[in-house]
Amino acid sequence: MTHLELREKFFRFWQEKPRRHTAIPSASLIPENDPSTLFTGSGMQPLIPYLLGTPNPSGRRLVDIQKCFRGQDIDEVGDNRHDTYFEMMGNWSLGDYFKKEQLTWYYEFLTEVLGLEKGKLYISCFAGYKNIPEDGESSRIWKSLGIADDHIHFYSAEHNWWSRSGTPEQMPAGEIGGPDSEVYYEFTQIPHDPKYGKRCHPACGCGRFLEIGNSVFIQYQKQEDGSFKDLPQKNVDFGGGIERTLAAILNEPDQFKTDVYIPIIKSIELASDLQYGQESLADRNFRIIADHIKAAVFLISAGVQTSNKDRGYILRRLIRRAIRFSRYLNITESFIEPVSDAVFTVYGGVYPEVLKEKKTIVDALINEERKFQQTLANGLRELEKIAPKGKISASEAFRLYESFGFPYEITREEAQNKGLSVAGKAEFAKEVQKHQEQSRSGSQGKFRGGLADRSEQATKYHTATHLLQAALRQVLGKHVHQQGSNITAERLRFDFSHPGKMTEEQIKKVEDLVNEQIANGLPQVVETMTYEEAIRSGALAFFKERYPEKVTVFSFGDPSTGSGSPFSREICGGPHVKNTKELGQVEIFKEESAGAGIRRIYARLI
Ligand code: ALA
Repeated sequence: MTHLELREKFFRFWQEKPRRHTAIPSASLIPENDPSTLFTGSGMQPLIPYLLGTPNPSGRRLVDIQKCFRGQDIDEVGDNRHDTYFEMMGNWSLGDYFKKEQLTWYYEFLTEVLGLEKGKLYISCFAGYKNIPEDGESSRIWKSLGIADDHIHFYSAEHNWWSRSGTPEQMPAGEIGGPDSEVYYEFTQIPHDPKYGKRCHPACGCGRFLEIGNSVFIQYQKQEDGSFKDLPQKNVDFGGGIERTLAAILNEPDQFKTDVYIPIIKSIELASDLQYGQESLADRNFRIIADHIKAAVFLISAGVQTSNKDRGYILRRLIRRAIRFSRYLNITESFIEPVSDAVFTVYGGVYPEVLKEKKTIVDALINEERKFQQTLANGLRELEKIAPKGKISASEAFRLYESFGFPYEITREEAQNKGLSVAGKAEFAKEVQKHQEQSRSGSQGKFRGGLADRSEQATKYHTATHLLQAALRQVLGKHVHQQGSNITAERLRFDFSHPGKMTEEQIKKVEDLVNEQIANGLPQVVETMTYEEAIRSGALAFFKERYPEKVTVFSFGDPSTGSGSPFSREICGGPHVKNTKELGQVEIFKEESAGAGIRRIYARLI
């Protein structure tokens, strides 16, 4: 089965009777107004407002395939089943059906539509946590479907609980999650590796079992005091990776041998004159290059530009790592173009909007490749500077790695050439770990401020971004489009397209205009309509990607009472005040560049 067939079958299955789900397109890889995370890493993220109870214009049953990127997994890429970019097939019950229907239908999909052998499926269920009981119900349902007792395993919250931040302990107050039930596929051709323990079981990690799908029962919200409260509705969030599901269908433990990777791997074979799949160390390099270039293509298509910060830095790391690992395959020529070409071959038919941007994307990749060559040359010069000391310390080796892209091995080689001693690999690894912990703590524990945050302050700030965008477009022109936004309890940040620095006068004008509209007390008007109707009626849309057929539109300034169109009108899923009066007053306190052709303003409510 090809990936195109799998996509088609998945959508058809959930859309047809009796399931009747509505298909929605993938949301952007850049989350809309969600400061807690840099990228969309699961299908659940863009749907949080609806899991919390906001009615979704497409209904209570949805089906999608979401593009996902998990930058935190970058160091795991290299084995046969990890990647940073992947696509998650999802079906959703937003307060509609629950465990019985979900597990029964998913089982039907796996065995009847995909033809997977029942005997090769293993199940995991939630063993309970504090006062949340074990999930005996799911286990009973699986048994009633014919799954043998010894194929069902109960695991603790470490394994069988899902939220964006991980275990119940790791969740910040306000976050939602719940127990889950996973399906594993058994590759009987892979013997158990005793390194992973005496007994092999689905979650043991030895590679004999592959998790292919996870039904999460999102029904709890964490409270300030650490306890869990029932959500107003019980939801189902199912996620199953396209890549892994294909691997199971083919009974092929290596997902890099499925057709979402084959053309990409082939292009690397051509560039390197080596063969993939020889069970040698080279395989790891092939996988890293394939994953990273694929991920880079999708990140650039979502609007990320390389930089030294946040998203741009991660994109840069992906491209540079791919180049570094290409050296281990003795690739000396530029390989970026043929490899990215192969990515377009795989996905062009699925994401025509990505294919359309091909030239821009390839140019950006090649540009970064050139910069990296320059950086490598600079790194060698840096090494020359360290040379008189006679020794390269772990922190210097780390700096060469971080700032100049020198993997430890290159540093050691170059050091040896120059007769320098160098800190051991273990010391270097410690330095890397220290850095990872720092960046992780920077990206976690900040649940507030996104579209999912319904606190009063976040609601006000989010509404203020709508008014700001409308005012910026009046003052600067219609070329202004939101590029991103980020909200904390103290301020908002708003990025938008505009070629040059704003003058003091323009800033003042925007601020005055927003405050005038706040003082006018514009009421919130919320409507549901088709995407085309929304655009025709003058609503702004944030994403370049496709939208669902039906969308929610928020306007401030009622067209029926005012003159002509409302002051602000946007397609949005966020929280908004009922009347602009609630905002008080807005003050813009900073304006700066946020990349080529993008300006950033900071504003607070006073
Ligand atoms: N949200 C669940 C996951 O990412 C399905 O695994």
